Amino acid sequence: MEALLSVNHLQTAFDTDQGKIISVDNISFSVKPGETLAIVGESGSGKSVTALSIMRLLGKGSRIDGGQILLDGTDILQLDERQMRDIRGNRISMVFQEPMTSLNPVFTIGYQLCEAIQLHLKQDKKEARATAVKMLRKVGLPRPEAIMKEYPFALSGGMRQRVMIAMALSCRPQILIADEPTTALDVTVQAQILQLMKELCEEAGTAILLITHDLGVVAEMADRVLVMYAGQIVEDTDVYTLFDEPKHPYTRGLLKSIPRLDIGAGEQLESIPGAVPTRYQSLPGCRFYNRCHLATEHCRGHLPPLEEKQEGQWVRCWEVGKSADGNLNRSEEGTHDES
Ligand SMILES: Nc1ncnc2c1ncn2[C@@H]1O[C@H](COP(=O)(O)OP(=O)(O)O)[C@@H](O)[C@H]1O
Ligand SMILES: [Mg+2]
Repeated sequence: MEALLSVNHLQTAFDTDQGKIISVDNISFSVKPGETLAIVGESGSGKSVTALSIMRLLGKGSRIDGGQILLDGTDILQLDERQMRDIRGNRISMVFQEPMTSLNPVFTIGYQLCEAIQLHLKQDKKEARATAVKMLRKVGLPRPEAIMKEYPFALSGGMRQRVMIAMALSCRPQILIADEPTTALDVTVQAQILQLMKELCEEAGTAILLITHDLGVVAEMADRVLVMYAGQIVEDTDVYTLFDEPKHPYTRGLLKSIPRLDIGAGEQLESIPGAVPTRYQSLPGCRFYNRCHLATEHCRGHLPPLEEKQEGQWVRCWEVGKSADGNLNRSEEGTHDES
């Protein structure tokens, strides 16, 4: 199937007092119509900057240094701001982690929802009101007419996030970008909101670009998964392979650090020792080098390419699949020969 969104060699940087920081470094991926692609990785790996680059909502001091972002074949990086406003909300919508910051506290829910609908769907006031009520009912909010008259602070976090989803989906976008959409919510509410998002998007054929640090969410929601580390993609695979045969040592580390029901409360969970390197753009080699149990001298000096190690599974690691017979377990045990 043709890709709906193709990100090709995107590079996004910030100019800071400490110099230039490359937050997203040459990443490429695509999203097919109706597909859910998850981007996963620890905090600071460049997930939000990727999303904001696609929306072209990066703040001051940021710049997209290179690459293309093709939506149905058109490079949206070449559009002017007026054309880009047409795309936002109409064809690509975004839901953020904290809905309070995206809702205006001084206007009612109804006012804000109707305004967005009038703008994007070119409906008159009355039609927009009807659409708004319909959408609030769709996202499972009881008594939508009453909620229309409420101010954001009167709603719980979960209800606000439902309103945001209603707003994001009211214009039937082709893609919904959801950046940690449930991180601020209780676990039970999280599951309900994700389920809702999934159902509504499936129904409308909307693709989802889902950003999360939570592999449980990935397992529930995703078709494909990108694992990001220090501004780069280190693994790109379908969700089943990610959980059955993760290959990058970082992906494996992330999977080991998921809380498990069979581990008693007091027991230590395994997590990846060390931290994401700062100023990683000056490192010549693999950015995971300082935390990797497979690392060799070669890894320190040479950045591994993102290579297809198995059909449909791309991994950025010198050590994975190194032995000729493709026996991954051998290299895991630390076959550090430099051939
Ligand atoms: N406005 C900004 N100015 C400078 N650096 C930024 C800015 N926003 C993000 N960064 C840097 O970009 C990197 C990636 O950030 P981000 O995409 O927010 O990570 P994630 O969403 O994966 O937690 C981080 O190192 C962060 O410090
Ligand atoms: Mg983020």
